Amino acid sequence: MKAILLAGGSGSRLYPLTQVSSKQLQAVYDKPMVYYPLTVLIASGIREICLISTPQDLPRYQSLLRDGSQWGVSVVYREQAKPEGIAQAFLIAADFVGSDDVILMLGDNIFSGGDDFRRAVTGFMGGATVFAYHVKDPERYGVVEFDRTGKAISIEEKPLVPKSNYAVPGVYVYDNGVLEIARDLKPSARGELEITDVNREYLKRDKLQVWRLSRGFAWLDAGTSSALHEASSYIGTIERRQGVKIGCPEEAALVRGFLSIDEFEALIGHMPRCEYSEYLRGVASEWHRLHGEQR
Ligand code: DAU
Repeated sequence: MKAILLAGGSGSRLYPLTQVSSKQLQAVYDKPMVYYPLTVLIASGIREICLISTPQDLPRYQSLLRDGSQWGVSVVYREQAKPEGIAQAFLIAADFVGSDDVILMLGDNIFSGGDDFRRAVTGFMGGATVFAYHVKDPERYGVVEFDRTGKAISIEEKPLVPKSNYAVPGVYVYDNGVLEIARDLKPSARGELEITDVNREYLKRDKLQVWRLSRGFAWLDAGTSSALHEASSYIGTIERRQGVKIGCPEEAALVRGFLSIDEFEALIGHMPRCEYSEYLRGVASEWHRLHGEQR
């Protein structure tokens, strides 16, 4: 399965932060926002990633993420000239996706806890799998309604009167049929190719699976300055309490076996002395302890 990481958009709600740097490059506690969804992809076993962003921001992502080989993955880049909708990602990256299945992740979605996405990717059987998460303010999101048996029966984008409290987070797993569905989409009233219209098409074909994320799972919003601050503070609280990092691509790559311990340690060797590299040194020591090697 391939992955598209969508990191464009204007970021206008984070003005003035986004005047000189893209929204998904802003700090969420101790790392750039895009590290969080990127780490979910690596932890899910995805090795081929296409990052889409604006022409002005793309060079910044290229200098941050490079070609991905430092994490044992491949990252390629495509431009979205204008923010004409999330589903446009499939038109922009069609050549990259080829004949594969694809997971689309929004670069501003931050998750913590559970391995639901990895299980959804490894157990994917075709059609589409999207997720549902209970929120207080569903009208801000795509909203999914379930019948009494738990089957999804409707999905609407930012409804004025939501039919449930279940919002659809920005992680979508599709079979290759998504490319054709995206080609046939018409722009919505707000002039965008809507991801919710893609999901509605799968629902119509009876090929949409909706996976409810458990209560303990955290899906954080970083769309406004106050939400960004809250997300940072949540991540900081968990990291300090547990002594483990969330959204650390190096660690995920080691755990997934994308990097050997030697490659992992060589990577740390290129980092400055800082909290982040100290943490990774601790991960390496723990690896040696568990594998019975002392260095
Ligand atoms: O976060 C989950 C929600 O994301 C879903 O529940 C909604 O169904 C989905 O439409 C989307 O809603 P948002 O209002 O959050 O979409 P937004 O326009 O803010 O775009 C989400 C991210 O995607 C944002 O970081 C910018 C990026 N983006 C967006 C558009 C429209 C692009 O890179 N290109 C685009 O054309």
